[in-house]
Amino acid sequence: MIVLGIETSCDETGIAIYDTTQGLLGHALYSQIEMHSEYGGVVPELASRDHIRRVIPLIQRSLSAASLNLQNLNAIAYTQGPGLAGALLVGASIGSALSFALNIPKIGIHHLEGHLLSPLLSTPSPTFPFVALLVSGGHTQLMEVCGVGRYNLLGETVDDAAGEAFDKTAKLLELGYPGGPALSKLAQQGQPGRFKLPRPMLHSGDLNFSFSGLKTAALTLVRKHEITPQTRADIALAFQEAAVDVLAKKSLSALAQTGFKQLVVAGGVGANQQLREELTMQAKLIGATVFYPELEFCTDNGAMIAFAGAMRLKEINDKKLLITNSFTVKARWDLGLLEPPNSS
Ligand code: KG4
Ligand code: ZN
Repeated sequence: MIVLGIETSCDETGIAIYDTTQGLLGHALYSQIEMHSEYGGVVPELASRDHIRRVIPLIQRSLSAASLNLQNLNAIAYTQGPGLAGALLVGASIGSALSFALNIPKIGIHHLEGHLLSPLLSTPSPTFPFVALLVSGGHTQLMEVCGVGRYNLLGETVDDAAGEAFDKTAKLLELGYPGGPALSKLAQQGQPGRFKLPRPMLHSGDLNFSFSGLKTAALTLVRKHEITPQTRADIALAFQEAAVDVLAKKSLSALAQTGFKQLVVAGGVGANQQLREELTMQAKLIGATVFYPELEFCTDNGAMIAFAGAMRLKEINDKKLLITNSFTVKARWDLGLLEPPNSS
C-alpha cells in the first residue's frame, strides 16, 4: 500500500510517500521559518496562504522523486489536528480532493500521533509497549504507548510546553525565531556552573512538568546582569541544563513507573543534543534504550503523517468507508481521546 502524507498544521509544509513494503519512497519539506521570523512568531493567515502555494508543487516533487504518479497512490493521510485551523484546512482539503478524485481512502491523522510513531521509521526501531516523551512547541507529555491508538497519558506540562519555553527564553536573549535551535547553539559557548536555574516540579512526586517559572527565572537573570555575549551564552546554558535535567529525570521516572525498558523521544525539542546525550546516558544506567527519530523527522514533516496513516490503514478492513467528500479539522484535539483503528 502506497500512502501520500500531507502535513500542514503549522509552519512547515511536509509531503511524503510511504510504502508499507518498501518504506519511505520520497519526501519533501518547505519551511516557512524565514517568512515568519520577521514577525517573531507564526502568523496564522500567512501560514495558510503559503501552504496553498507549496503543497501541490511538493506533492509533484515527492512523486517524481519516487518515480510515481498520482495513479500509483493507494491512500492519502493528512494532518487533521491539532494546529492552526486555516493551515490544517489546506492539507485536509487537498488530501480530500485527491482522495475523491482518485477514488482512494483518506485518513485524518493526529499530529502528535505522527510524532509519537516517527521513531518507528528508523532502524533499529522500538517495539510496543514503550514510554514516549513528546516535546514540541505546543506539547510536553509523557505517554505510555501500547500500540497504534493505545495511548495513556502519564504526565504533562501544567503551563508552557518545553519548546515554547525554549522559544520564549531565546526571544528574551534576542535570538530570533524559532529560538530552540539558536539557544542550544549559543549554550555550547556557555560556562558551566556560572548560573544555576531552578528545576520546576522535579520533586512533585508525579510526572507533570512546569516551564513558565523557568522562563521567568531566566528573565530575572537577564534583568540583573549586564548582557555581554558571554552572559547570554551562560544564561542559555543554565536554561538548557535546567530544562534537560527535568525532562530527563521525569522520563526516567516514567520508565520506572511503567517497568518499560524503551523510551521514545519525539517532537522538535527531541533534536536537542544535550537532551539526547543526557537521556542516553541515564537510560543506559538502568539498562533501558532510547530511540529518536532521524533528526530530519524530529520537527514537523510529512513522513510521520504518511507512516501513521499507513499503520492505521493496515488495521482497517473496510477502507471504502474512508472515501467520502466531507472532511473536518480539529484545531484542538486531545491525544488521549484517540482510539485504536477499527475500534468504532
Ligand atoms: O515538533 P515541532 O517541529 O513543532 C510543533 O509541533 O510544535 O517543534 C518545534 C519546537 C520549537 O519550539 C523549537 O524551538 C523546538 O521545537 N526545537 C528545539 C530544537 N530544535 C527545535 N528546542 C531545543 N533544541 C533544539 N535543538
Ligand atoms: Zn510538531
